[in-house]
Amino acid sequence: MNQLQVQGHSGHSTIYIDSAISELKNLRRGRRMFIITDENVYRYHSTLFPDADEIIVVPAGESSKNLEDVSRLYERLIDADIDRNTLIIGIGGGMVTDLAGFVAATLLRGVACGFVATTVLAQVDAAIGGKNGVNIKGYKNLVGTIRQPEFVINDTAMLRTLNDDQFINGLSEVIKSGLIADRALFELMETHGPQIVATRQGLLGEALGRAARVKVDVVNRDEFESGERRLLNLGHTYGHAVEKITRMHHGFAVAIGMVVAARLSVQRNMLSADDAARIEQVIAAIGLPVSVDLGTDALMDAMRKDKKRQSDKVNYVLLDAIGHAVVTPIEYSELERTLDDLRRPHA
Ligand code: GLY
Repeated sequence: MNQLQVQGHSGHSTIYIDSAISELKNLRRGRRMFIITDENVYRYHSTLFPDADEIIVVPAGESSKNLEDVSRLYERLIDADIDRNTLIIGIGGGMVTDLAGFVAATLLRGVACGFVATTVLAQVDAAIGGKNGVNIKGYKNLVGTIRQPEFVINDTAMLRTLNDDQFINGLSEVIKSGLIADRALFELMETHGPQIVATRQGLLGEALGRAARVKVDVVNRDEFESGERRLLNLGHTYGHAVEKITRMHHGFAVAIGMVVAARLSVQRNMLSADDAARIEQVIAAIGLPVSVDLGTDALMDAMRKDKKRQSDKVNYVLLDAIGHAVVTPIEYSELERTLDDLRRPHA
């Protein structure tokens, strides 16, 4: 079986690629086990769940990621006499893994946890890396920790129940992984992206495995985000602003953000216009958006408010080649000046 290893200061994590939820039985190693999942995952996949001491189902959607829900989870687990030899399992997408990871990291000052990632986004990004957290006062993940899950199981078969939008939403992060660190992965998506979307088979496993490896490698070099890990934010500065204003899916907004980052890279003579056009084509070919009609003022406002701490500059991730990204501090004032122009389609 294909495995990747995260060797973090906050713990060691094994990522089981192209694995199956049935592996949970072995990885449990006789411990008491509490499963946290959401309504959608429970509806589609509960028959695959192993026996557990309790299965706690939270409403689907980002609104469950808050301190009130965390508190309710603490109380249920305490009432069930959880102890430090218990295993907490999050089965779901990024919302569930963030929530379950945070509960496990903080209750009793840390209980072992593992994840079964059921979305593309979680399998290549959200479930890997140890960051967990909940939202507060409209800020995403402002309360959280970094602590590695004991394991992540990526079950490709569970991706079949995702609708098309959810599926291509996650492929946005696959393209991102190719752009920042794996040119061959970008080219795989360039050649086979539409076929992967149509069949959800074939080279899907290869693409997901390569993208997960990019994440693992970056986390292994910079677990606490003092430098390189920021590269994973390619497309996210602009993307978060778009997501906040329009409520569009995260990966859709990041796709638009990656197109903007590519154009900004061309403008700074870091990337060729041909490469930027290729990036736009790969994104569009799998059905992701490449632009959105929003005013610069609204976008700038949302970008400035994305992080609680204010500064004149933003660490923007740009590309100096397909497969190589660089973090570049850019003054908001410069960004504002160029944004109108960048949002116009190429002539
Ligand atoms: N759990 C997501 C991350 O660490 O990036």
